[in-house]
Amino acid sequence: MQFLKRSIACGLINEEHVGSVVTLNGWVHRHRDLGGLIFLDLRDQSGVVQLFFDPAKIDADMANQVRALRAEWVIAVQGTVAHRAKINDKLPTGRYEVLVTTLQVLNRAQPLPFQLEGEGTASDEMRLRYRYIDLRRAEMQQFLKMRHDVMMIMRNYFDEHGFCEVETPILTKCTPGGARNFLVPCRLQPGTFYALTESPQLYKQLLMAGGVEKYFQIARCFRDEALRANRQPEFTQIDIEMSFIDEKDIQSVCEGLIHKLWKKFLNVELALPLRRFTYDDVFARFGSDKPDMRFELEIKDISQLFAGTPIKFLASTLEQGGRIGCLHVTDKKFSRAELDHWTDYVTKELGAKGLVWIRWREDGSIDSPLAKLLPADFFQTAVQMLSGLRKTDTLFVIAGQYEEAWTTLGQLRLTLGKELNLIDTKRHELFWVTDFPLFEFDKEKSCWQARHHQFTAPQDGWEKLEMKDIKARAYDLVCNGEELGGGSIRIHSSEVQNKIFDLLGIDKQLAAEKFGFLFEAQNLGYPPEGGLAFGLDRLVMMLCGTDAIRNVIAFPKTQNGSCLMMQAPSAVDEALLKDLHLKSTFESKK
Ligand code: AMO
Repeated sequence: MQFLKRSIACGLINEEHVGSVVTLNGWVHRHRDLGGLIFLDLRDQSGVVQLFFDPAKIDADMANQVRALRAEWVIAVQGTVAHRAKINDKLPTGRYEVLVTTLQVLNRAQPLPFQLEGEGTASDEMRLRYRYIDLRRAEMQQFLKMRHDVMMIMRNYFDEHGFCEVETPILTKCTPGGARNFLVPCRLQPGTFYALTESPQLYKQLLMAGGVEKYFQIARCFRDEALRANRQPEFTQIDIEMSFIDEKDIQSVCEGLIHKLWKKFLNVELALPLRRFTYDDVFARFGSDKPDMRFELEIKDISQLFAGTPIKFLASTLEQGGRIGCLHVTDKKFSRAELDHWTDYVTKELGAKGLVWIRWREDGSIDSPLAKLLPADFFQTAVQMLSGLRKTDTLFVIAGQYEEAWTTLGQLRLTLGKELNLIDTKRHELFWVTDFPLFEFDKEKSCWQARHHQFTAPQDGWEKLEMKDIKARAYDLVCNGEELGGGSIRIHSSEVQNKIFDLLGIDKQLAAEKFGFLFEAQNLGYPPEGGLAFGLDRLVMMLCGTDAIRNVIAFPKTQNGSCLMMQAPSAVDEALLKDLHLKSTFESKK
């Protein structure tokens, strides 16, 4: 069907169009029949404008056609722009309307599965099942546009700074040590598999070997991991790499970009250079490597307070080299039920052995499950360690091995921060965390692993240290408790690379098989280099002020990795599996 093509977008109508004839295309947004006078809001990507159908100026056929219109029908109209009798200040086009003389219905729509307007009208599941309807909402349109703007700014920024955009393969080799890979069978070489790239890490290093000194890419990455609000199985990185540089060079390029984005989208002038904290420092104070510094509530080590304590589990924690930490909450009087709730939260949800609370009654006596075992002068000794401690405050105490106890305290701190409204959401706390441990011990697999990845350079003097004490030349950019990006200086010598693989217990033969190409490159003129990758989805989420990355991804997956709209993943035909020499051993539970 030939249709009346738009002469202007709905949202652009302004004073200069008054009196002229316009043609508009779009969706019926709202429909009001006021005793024969029909008003209709027409929506397109640019916004909404009011249409007015005057029964005196249209024939009966058209009047019937107009009355039959329903929400989300797709139409074309022609008419004259006029001033509205009743101004709507909330709408950019709220002073004008179009007096329609011609109407074309381009497509009908059945009643929608959910309303476009109003909060809470649709479940997350419905929104994802009918994502294309959800995308029609003004907020989603805004998020997509912002994502586009961010990408444009980034592209231009890196271009202006001499970076070259290079696309690296998505079908790559399955290598040990990183995130869990998605596998793709290779039909042309039966029995072999590609992995979908979890990040362009190795390719960007090889680009440095190839003499591309400043690389960037807006890169799709794929990781078969458990999902959360800030994780998707496929996501986008802004990936960069530079040769002949050190940590500061990379960090200052990244800071310049972040400064620009925060100024443009949030009108926040970030003070540069951003602050830097060591991993040891933030972990001791916040029990996390990505602390939310928009509120205080730092963890205090109060082990000394319990030296020689008769409380058995605390004494044995200290004997076994553990520590006792606490969160000191002020300005909040917890009820007994609330204290029970926090104890349950720590044991049931965070999986810790226990939480002890200590507070004081109005008469000054101690109120705590441990009250009888605490010395009478507990407050006097505690106040020396916890400055500003008052008898109206509450201490939440956790004992255990340092890493574990502090991690639990860090999680409790975050939840307390949210539930007690301690977080100043207007603050923007961006900083670098540096000097990470190079390795971490994976208790489940009972082995050491690289904390960032196996290609991260160790800090000087590493050869003389125990694995747990070796620090990495790695850095993360943290914003409001979220890891926005991470990177490192890379190992550029094959000798060091081999030694690191040795320490990680990666068998020499396996290392040669999986990473031979990297050793070769390192031996054929490989420059000192490093880089970083931002999580684009997380960055856009922050700039949009929303709380889940799925809101800024056009077609995201659910928590269990499904696309509800297309019903992916799905079973495939036996014939296809046969063609790929595959056979599923999976048996669904009846
Ligand atoms: P890393 O694994 O830390 O580093 O990833 C870099 C950034 O990518 C984002 N990110 C994610 N975003 C959404 N969903 C996910 N599943 C997800 N996983 C990671 C985070 C993170 O900070 N190659 C290295 C970078 C480098 O060393 O240059 C890498 O991938 O914001």
